[in-house]
Amino acid sequence: MKITVVYGTERKGCTYTIAQKLISSFSDAQVNELFLPKDLPEFCVSCFKCFTEEHASCAHDKYVKPIREKLIWADLIILTSPVYSFHVTGQMKVLLDHFANMWLVHRPEESMFKKQGVVISTASGPVYAKTLNEMKDSLDFWGVTRVYKIGTAVMETDWERVKPKIKNKTYAKILKISAKISKTYLRIQRTGRAFPSFRVLKWFAISRFMQKRLRLNPIDALYWESKEWTGKNRPWK
Ligand SMILES: Cc1cc2nc3c(=O)[nH]c(=O)nc-3n(C[C@H](O)[C@H](O)[C@H](O)COP(=O)(O)O)c2cc1C
Repeated sequence: MKITVVYGTERKGCTYTIAQKLISSFSDAQVNELFLPKDLPEFCVSCFKCFTEEHASCAHDKYVKPIREKLIWADLIILTSPVYSFHVTGQMKVLLDHFANMWLVHRPEESMFKKQGVVISTASGPVYAKTLNEMKDSLDFWGVTRVYKIGTAVMETDWERVKPKIKNKTYAKILKISAKISKTYLRIQRTGRAFPSFRVLKWFAISRFMQKRLRLNPIDALYWESKEWTGKNRPWK
């Protein structure tokens, strides 16, 4: 299984350790790792080129293009971030902003509809839900077929000192999610079909209506037409 993991900090702390545990649960993993802010050290400058140009360039293509290629390459995308002030880290938000044009309501990458995703977060206390959902929002709106969440209140800053009870609960969750991902991955490989989440299906239907009837951004509408998604074609089939 091809895995691209984006770490929301360069700190190899608790969040990194949990991601590593998940990755090592797959016997056949090929992995691409991206660390933030190292691999994307620029804020979105609101040039709007990604929304308005047909070939969606970015002021930071030097960084964004290779990341996009690694996301498209993967069968499984993992986004991680510790909780900073109740939210994702600033550098993870910067990455998500650079891929807003890949949202369903604009020009989603066709292959996303057959990929799976995991979002991972840790916090001192049980306040990781918002952070997980901030990353899940992007994976869902990129069209990723299934997205799983792993959140842990570590009550520590070093994984070695985290209580065994908390560690074991996290490991059990990792194994459960890993088994589900492997099963779905094999099914997609075998049949070539995916079964998207309700949220993806709902937003695909809303976006299809927008592109077919409202055509607010002609570039997006033309893209949807070229994929025949405004007709009967569907990217998960
Ligand atoms: C700048 C900063 C802000 C933080 N904000 C919160 C917070 O709002 N709530 C919380 O429970 N922990 C917060 N923490 C603690 C981290 O979320 C926690 O230690 C996390 O496990 C660190 O992940 P890491 O080991 O992967 O770096 C914060 C830590 C930092 C450095």
